[in-house]
Amino acid sequence: MIKVITYGTYDHLHYGHIRLLERAKALGDYLIVGVTADDFDRVRGKINTEQSLIERVEAVKATGIADEIIIEEYEGQKIDDICRYGVDIFTVGSDWVGKFDYLKEYCKVVYLPRTEGVSSSEIRSAEEHVSLGLVGGSDFLNKIIEESHYVNGLEAIGVCSSNKTCFNQQILGLPTVTDDYKELLDKVDAVYIKSEPSSHYALVKEALENNKHVLCEAPFSMDVGEWNYLVQLANESHLVLLDGIKTAYSTAYNRLKLLAKSGRIGRVVSIKAVCTSLKNENSQGKWDPIYEWGPTALLPIFQILGTEYVKKTTCVHYYDDARKHDAFTKMDFVFSNAVASMEVANGVKSEGELIISGTKGYIIVPAPWWNTDYFEIRYEHSEENKRYFYQLDGEGIRFELLCFLQEIKNKPMQPYVDRRVSKAICRELEEFNCKRNIIEI
Ligand code: CTP
Repeated sequence: MIKVITYGTYDHLHYGHIRLLERAKALGDYLIVGVTADDFDRVRGKINTEQSLIERVEAVKATGIADEIIIEEYEGQKIDDICRYGVDIFTVGSDWVGKFDYLKEYCKVVYLPRTEGVSSSEIRSAEEHVSLGLVGGSDFLNKIIEESHYVNGLEAIGVCSSNKTCFNQQILGLPTVTDDYKELLDKVDAVYIKSEPSSHYALVKEALENNKHVLCEAPFSMDVGEWNYLVQLANESHLVLLDGIKTAYSTAYNRLKLLAKSGRIGRVVSIKAVCTSLKNENSQGKWDPIYEWGPTALLPIFQILGTEYVKKTTCVHYYDDARKHDAFTKMDFVFSNAVASMEVANGVKSEGELIISGTKGYIIVPAPWWNTDYFEIRYEHSEENKRYFYQLDGEGIRFELLCFLQEIKNKPMQPYVDRRVSKAICRELEEFNCKRNIIEI
């Protein structure tokens, strides 16, 4: 009996897939189809798969062509499968020519001509196309446009900024480059905003009033009353309003959060999050550290310990006599059965670690933890320590954009920054801004 194996994602199973499967089957007597798991697809850079693994497996099964269906979960698995199942022929479409020649050591490799004119990517893009406008004067927008290319169905088509000097050619080459916000809003379905934090509220409000979806770097307001208004406006208008905090969308951060919550280090007793850089007010640092770093540093504290603490102390070191610009800020929180602290600075340097301490062990994310792809769980006995690594594609921005798009398409993913946490972050920044209960150092 000749055994044949082939692999694919099979998202929105189409005619090209079926033709491939039929020809694969005809190469032998028994066909094994490997369907790629979501996590593995992400590692391969395919982040837009829309159907769940189960739906994709069911679709392949329904063709009746496969004799056996397996799941592809890790790199190198093809070699394992070929050996384990005694496979004689490995086959895929001609879009992969040469890529799998290394398997010739284990079996025959056949590249079948790809069917022209159809692909899962095209089906996904055709479904709904969301045009995105970028707003603000930050070079961070360069990264947003680069990452948007990975998200099928989302296309950056314009930018609105009064300062275009920090933009690369990709942004400057967009069809609409303007400093007239209304002009941009008229042309897009959604906006990504990263501007002076004090301007976020007005920008978000205008976008929502013009029926546009909004992804805004947190905080989208520095006033809880305004925050409430924007959320209500978005809800009433059935528009998406999301907080942009790229770390929240990274796989490693999400996994460590789940491990901490599920008791892997016992009961969480302390969290310490540090985010610093040595920019000063005259250099690149456009925004005070509390605005630039605060939402990120507060994220693990509020997501793991909750948003309701018993007591807080805020210590600040200001650059200037007018106490307008903070160089260093430390907030210490006391919860009913835990403590937490965050340090943010644009003028004082420290180790940018995240440490979550528990009654059985601790999680440590080395600096810079906010760009995290790696963390460790350490126990009393070091032989029990565990290391975790997850690919960090596009610093989390790629998933942030994907999540935004899926929300717009009414196919929400998990809430990476829920409203409770978003509001708590806003509350802290409002208190800081009003200089309530601040100790100056
Ligand atoms: N395939 C094919 N003809 C097509 C599309 C896919 O022969 N028009 C083959 C691929 O070469 C592969 C298998 O079908 O062997 C599974 O492909 P998959 O990557 O799941 O589908 P695509 O439509 O190529 O997906 P995407 O657009 O996301 O890359």
